[in-house]
Amino acid sequence: MLVLGIESSCDETGVAVVEATGPGVPVLRAHALHSQVDMHQAYGGVVPELASRDHIRRVLPLAQDVLARSGCALPDIDVVAYTRGPGLAGALLVGAGVACALGAALGKPVLGVHHLEGHLLSPFLSRDPPEFPFVALLVSGGHTQLMQVDGVGRYALLGETIDDAAGEAFDKSAKLLGLGYPGGPALSRLAEQGDPEAFKLPRPLLHSGDLDFSFAGLKTAVLTQAKKLGDGLEARKADLAAATEAAIVDVLVRKSLAALDASGLQRIVVAGGVGANRRLRAQLDAACGRRGVRVHYPELALCTDNGAMIAMAAAMRLQAGVQEAQPLYAFDVKPR
Ligand code: KG4
Ligand code: ZN
Repeated sequence: MLVLGIESSCDETGVAVVEATGPGVPVLRAHALHSQVDMHQAYGGVVPELASRDHIRRVLPLAQDVLARSGCALPDIDVVAYTRGPGLAGALLVGAGVACALGAALGKPVLGVHHLEGHLLSPFLSRDPPEFPFVALLVSGGHTQLMQVDGVGRYALLGETIDDAAGEAFDKSAKLLGLGYPGGPALSRLAEQGDPEAFKLPRPLLHSGDLDFSFAGLKTAVLTQAKKLGDGLEARKADLAAATEAAIVDVLVRKSLAALDASGLQRIVVAGGVGANRRLRAQLDAACGRRGVRVHYPELALCTDNGAMIAMAAAMRLQAGVQEAQPLYAFDVKPR
């Protein structure tokens, strides 16, 4: 079974072909990605209308490229998958429209995939895929969740953010420090030159006794520090960036350990854009290593949005029989 996957929920256009044979973990044949970061940079954030228009420009050339590199022709594709949501409505509609048009033209079934399930299952694209069950720490620009994952489609929410997402905390703090967009990687790069203990920043809900997160207060604390420093901010920016990163990572790691304790599981999967963060990886690896817990990440290039995770999630859902692909002549998206 060959699955063509299309991702267009935000500012990356991704297309991929994944092959599922028998009961084994499906295999990535090829993927292609176009990031719109350069285009949105001038505006300090994603401009939805520009994002949609760029997806339209990119998606078919990317699909042609992926098909050529995966050694198959369009008629060989058995199922077309697309990101149904969450994301920007106009951007989602591009992927959905293309997927359903291809499905209709080829007479092949189409499958809408939840973007977060794509992130959640993206570690299965790595050379060393996890085994079920595991705890998942899902940390993206819009979501921060801890989940118990017992199998494909069997997800129990253990905790989540009550306000900002971890990626949002990175992005908003980066903006306050004048680091531009996308903030997470920029703040993380600057943090490498700073002292994470130079400032005391809050670790909200650390001792709340549950597995929920809160990051909105951190952004306010960063703003207060920045204001206090005034003209001296420039010289201390790397320190403040390092302290911000340390505060976010500290909470993510400690709550992840608490989720492992609560579930009694010995495996954790980290997925979503913030999963690319080096400090998070180092601290989680160290803490889990001490407990004999295995940590799985997606390949670094597949941490942020991509088509491979959408094709993979569709292939795994079909393989597990939790969803059936159907001919779709009308489509919908779920922005929220
Ligand atoms: O999963 P993703 O690509 O898109 C969403 O579904 O949201 O995640 C994007 C988020 C952004 O907030 C971005 O700043 C953050 O992931 N991010 C990082 C890093 N790389 C991406 N945050 C911290 N450190 C990084 N290296
Ligand atoms: Zn994402």
